Amino acid sequence: MSAPPRLHIVILAAGIGSRMRSDTPKVLHRLAGCPLLQWVIQAARPLGPEVIHVIYGHHRDQLQTYFNTEKPHWIHQEQQLGTAHALAQALPHIPDEAQILVLAGDVPLIQTSTLASLIALTAPNELGLLLAEPLQPTGYGRVLRNIKAEVIDIVEEKDATPEQRLIREIYTGVCLAQAATFKQMLPLIQTNNAQKEYYLTQVVSLASQRGLPIKTLTVNNEMETQGVNTRQQLSELERYWQRQQAYQLMEQGVCILDPNRIDIRGRLNAEPDVVIDINTVFEGEVTLKKGCRIGPNCVLKNVTVDENAEILSHSVIEESIIGANSSVGPFARLRPGTILAEACKIGNFVETKKAQFGPHSKASHLSYLGDVQLGKDVNVGAGTITCNYDGANKHETIIEDGAFIGSGTQLIAPVRVGENATIGAGTTLRANAPANALTLSAKEQKTLTNWKRPRKNRSQHD
Ligand code: UD1
Ligand code: MG
Repeated sequence: MSAPPRLHIVILAAGIGSRMRSDTPKVLHRLAGCPLLQWVIQAARPLGPEVIHVIYGHHRDQLQTYFNTEKPHWIHQEQQLGTAHALAQALPHIPDEAQILVLAGDVPLIQTSTLASLIALTAPNELGLLLAEPLQPTGYGRVLRNIKAEVIDIVEEKDATPEQRLIREIYTGVCLAQAATFKQMLPLIQTNNAQKEYYLTQVVSLASQRGLPIKTLTVNNEMETQGVNTRQQLSELERYWQRQQAYQLMEQGVCILDPNRIDIRGRLNAEPDVVIDINTVFEGEVTLKKGCRIGPNCVLKNVTVDENAEILSHSVIEESIIGANSSVGPFARLRPGTILAEACKIGNFVETKKAQFGPHSKASHLSYLGDVQLGKDVNVGAGTITCNYDGANKHETIIEDGAFIGSGTQLIAPVRVGENATIGAGTTLRANAPANALTLSAKEQKTLTNWKRPRKNRSQHD
């Protein structure tokens, strides 16, 4: 996409967002896991602007901390006196010949392609407006046209007559003009309106009166220009976006059991014949290879699941790779650094962290395996625990090919279990176990035949 000469983008984001009833600035509320302002910046960035200016009013520290990688140009609007006043704060930072594209920080689903079309449509000496015709125009500024159908004004809902409120054509809050045009017109804007604010929309009547050509582009999908003012609107946009994602995956051959009960907060790459059950949450970058199955109520964050592997219900997996034909869960907790080769099994109530499993290795029940490397064909019995932490440092456990760890074993790291070694159930392994041998730490079992069970002390009156 080639940028027009000298494009500056101004994102208006200083409104307090009082209807969210929140201590968090509105533009930091999240849609699909990503702050609203970041959506807008991400739509703006590919247009190749020289600078993205963000007008903010409050919570500078919170905003800057979050966007310290994006680094837009922050401009403070001390008092929120209206959209024209907000834009005016940016003008001293923008050269006269630059085109300014004005966006709102609380309209997250605006598309780069729509903005590019508006830019392509609008010559430097024109005013470009992005319009829409929603079924419910309530709350938006209505577009007034003359008898020749030319746009002559925009009237805000609160200032509109009952007849004007019947107009369905609205202004989306996105406009484009040369900096010089805004610099001439903004000082002429007054606050003679219902909200006593400096309305940026007044540039439309000023342009019309001065014979400045006005170009308009109408957005077909009204969700694209839907703003977020309330938590209800945010939840509606969230569900809309999630459903879109789900439908797109379904088109690619993914079976999603209920497109209303999936949440993708990042990017989900899924191949054909993947099956995704209900209430699944995908965060960060998740890749699901052909034929793998994700059971209900699972959370996967930055995970790759290879072909035909199965994640059973209620499993929580983070920064892990699940090998082909492996099975994980139900109720498994795989923490960062878990790497399973093909055909492994992690069963219920098993927690792993920095754990590498060779092919065909298993931990079927109730274990903690941290800082551990397993070879191939290893079998870890129920209740096995790697004691990897001595209170100050973490230590590694190595279990070689074909080893069998009996149930209830504690592996006190650093420790190594040799190839085809067997560890007896209930062992506390404090030193390396040699290959091809049985190692156990349990003392010989004894029975006391004269022993009596202790009895409860009863008071004399009982
Ligand atoms: C605005 C438009 C309206 C349009 C609608 C589309 C004006 C006067 N009206 O109305 O025609 O239909 O958007 O959503 O422009 N902001 C500041 N500083 C301020 C005031 C607002 O930065 O002093 C920011 C807000 O944070 C917000 C954006 O500007 O991101 C729009 O302001 P808002 O008060 O939401 O305007 P609307 O009433 O929605
Ligand atoms: Mg608004």
